[in-house]
Amino acid sequence: MKARELKDKFINFFVSQQHVEIPSARIIPENDPTTLFISAGMHPLVPFLLGESHPLGKRLTDVQKCVRTGDIDDVGDETHNTFFEMLGNWSLGDYFKKDMIPWSYKFLTQELKINPEHLHVTCFEGDADAPKDTESYDLWHSQGISEDRIHYLPKKDNWWGPAGSVGPCGPDTEMFIDTNPNAGPIDFVTGCKQRRIIEIWNDVFMQYYKDADGKFSEMPQKNVDTGMGVERTTAILSGFSDNYLSSIWQPIIQKIEEISHKKYSEYTKSIRIIADHIRSAVFIIADGIEPSNKEAGYVLRRLIRRAVRQGKILGIETNFISKIADAVLDNQENYAGIYPELNQNRERIISILDAEENKFRKTLNNGLREINKLIERSKSVSGKEAFTLYESFGFPVEMIQEELEKNNLSLDIDEFNQAKEDHQKLSQTLSAGKFKSGLADNSEIITKYHTTTHLLHTALRKILGDHVQQSGSNITADRLRFDFSHNEKLTDEQLKQVSDLVNQQIKSSLVVTKETIPFTQAQKEGAIAFFGSKYPEIVSVYTIGPKDSYFSKEVCTGPHVNNTNELGTFEITKEESAGSGKRRIYAILK
Ligand code: ALA
Repeated sequence: MKARELKDKFINFFVSQQHVEIPSARIIPENDPTTLFISAGMHPLVPFLLGESHPLGKRLTDVQKCVRTGDIDDVGDETHNTFFEMLGNWSLGDYFKKDMIPWSYKFLTQELKINPEHLHVTCFEGDADAPKDTESYDLWHSQGISEDRIHYLPKKDNWWGPAGSVGPCGPDTEMFIDTNPNAGPIDFVTGCKQRRIIEIWNDVFMQYYKDADGKFSEMPQKNVDTGMGVERTTAILSGFSDNYLSSIWQPIIQKIEEISHKKYSEYTKSIRIIADHIRSAVFIIADGIEPSNKEAGYVLRRLIRRAVRQGKILGIETNFISKIADAVLDNQENYAGIYPELNQNRERIISILDAEENKFRKTLNNGLREINKLIERSKSVSGKEAFTLYESFGFPVEMIQEELEKNNLSLDIDEFNQAKEDHQKLSQTLSAGKFKSGLADNSEIITKYHTTTHLLHTALRKILGDHVQQSGSNITADRLRFDFSHNEKLTDEQLKQVSDLVNQQIKSSLVVTKETIPFTQAQKEGAIAFFGSKYPEIVSVYTIGPKDSYFSKEVCTGPHVNNTNELGTFEITKEESAGSGKRRIYAILK
């Protein structure tokens, strides 16, 4: 089965059960400072899982762009991907297990035509936080799954979420397919270990909230959150255990083969890494990120650099990354036809990839010079020195080893690993500090910054002109950060005018109102929308100020304060470049 067919079947199935299809959110969380990327379909829906009403109702379905980089080092095997698409459907306090489990069964057996005898399912076995999920067990059984194929498992297997460090979560029931039933019966756990039995869908019964202390409490609203990975399911339904053999990857892999004159069957791992990393990089850049040494930009940089490095293994010594990106961008059926941000940002994506590749090739040359200097001077490169090269130049450790081997020397890899571990521990400590200021715990201050961001956006447009468009926003409990299109550094006078204007609105006690209207009407009424994003037909619009003489009107999912007088005093703390044609403002509320 082709990916597009799977996506269409899934969405159509849930639309026929009165769900509304919503577009994928951007890959970068707008208002969750606890994680760098959207990692699941439910992630952009957190406010609605917590009880806020969604403009399109209580039953939603979509295909969401996701990035998970936790096991980036595993990419290269048959299954791991950094970017992937997730199919999902949600009940926001509407239906629950009794509807969801029969739908799952029906979709798998009737739409995807999976033989019910080849299905296994798991249910939560219960613990101190939540009871044993006998209801799901009974529902599966009544659908016709025999007892020997329903398995109770503990929290580590049958609990999902939260997506960040805090938020909604709950017990789940997972569906698996036995990919080789002809080989005779097999024990479930062994089958999973052998990758003969593979998970294809997860229904989460999201009715708990995990707080920063790790405590679980029941939420007033019982939700359903499901997730099915497009890449994996497409491969399984096409009979491949290697995900990269499915039609999703073929144009990308063919392009790599063509450029490198190497075959996938011989250089499998390198080609998989290049294909995976470039596809991710394309989507990350399309959503407004550029390579940098921080956060999402750093992940992007690593992805591109790792791909260049694998290209070297294939013998590619000139720029090739943007050519592989073309194979992703040209894929109308799977990508370009669905995600308008790809075509809209095509030139930017290509030029960023080229620039980063040039930069890295220079880094590699400098690094090589540095290594050779060390070798000449002390006839060795210590593990610590290797780590410095790796950390500060982004120089891959394998290449350090190769260079040493050429000189009949070897690297103390244990010392290198120790240095790496020490560094990781330090950054974990730092980021634990960051997580403490997560969205859910500080929802009040985050909400305030969110409304302030709208005021700032309009103020910038009024002072600098309508060419100002938001290109990114990031809020923590300590500040807001706002990126926008503008070519020049702001003068002190302009910065003062902008903050005065924002503070005037705060002092004027403007009421903030929310309306739910068709997107086309919102546009007609002059509401600002995020350029390049696809919006659903019906959207929420937040207006700040009286209806007939408002200060700001933006399409946005919220949440916001009720009145600007809740905001305090606004102060811009920093203004800087955010890449070509873009500026960045940091601001605080006092
Ligand atoms: N949020 C659930 C998952 O990602 C459905 O598996």
